[in-house]
Amino acid sequence: ILTFLTGHDTTASAICWTLYNLARHPHYQEKCRQEVMELMQGRDGHEIQWEDLSSLPFTTMCIKESLRLHSPVQAVTRKYTQDVALPGDLTVPQGVICLVSLYGTHHNPEVWTNPHEFDPLRFEPTSAQSRSSHDFIPFSSGPRNCIGQKFAMAELRVVVALTLLRFRLTPGVDPEAGSGSGKVRRLPQLVLRAEGGLWLQLEALNESSLGEPENK
Ligand code: HEM
Repeated sequence: ILTFLTGHDTTASAICWTLYNLARHPHYQEKCRQEVMELMQGRDGHEIQWEDLSSLPFTTMCIKESLRLHSPVQAVTRKYTQDVALPGDLTVPQGVICLVSLYGTHHNPEVWTNPHEFDPLRFEPTSAQSRSSHDFIPFSSGPRNCIGQKFAMAELRVVVALTLLRFRLTPGVDPEAGSGSGKVRRLPQLVLRAEGGLWLQLEALNESSLGEPENK
């Protein structure tokens, strides 16, 4: 049950925020769509195979940037099993429980320039190499990290790729509240949600004409 709950809500949040970020950045959305279309060109159906996932590098960069900017899990806790010395003559004593902020890690201005901006180019292989392995930890790290992260990344790539193939996304409006969305509510929910929901407008694409809207 735990695996079902932790795996479902987090992945749903990651999918929503990725689509939302792509809706707000149409040029990145189009670049992802072109990548997916190239991959699917000449195929009969729209099925993505396991081997295809490595052929979506830019889409993967956008998903990772979304996981950084809007991490579904905002913090994890760890209990210290031994004293740990910190810089400045400080010690965290054994037995203490610490909250590790994934949000703080992913928005640290010393690591991420303009941390509140959506910029998938941060995840270009050359830029990623110059960072520490612990600067980006949406699935946490260490022996109790997420057991579902490979599955989640695969699911994200498939859902994002197939959605972009069929629809053009633009930011939407809550028809009842009548206002825009995107305000981040961090608590009391376990998983990151937006106050008032995330609203997107989906325009069906004519699949045969590479990205042309069906009804203009
Ligand atoms: C984008 C999607 C996901 C995110 C961001 C995410 C994030 C996380 C994080 C941060 C943790 C560590 C919690 C901690 O250290 O206290 C974790 C643990 C876990 N995740 Fe995920 N997760 C995702 C998807 C999934 C999926 C798809 C599954 C199952 C198929 C899953 C199953 C688990 C389980 C069972 C744990 C507990 C591992 C343990 O305690 O040893 N997660 N996840």
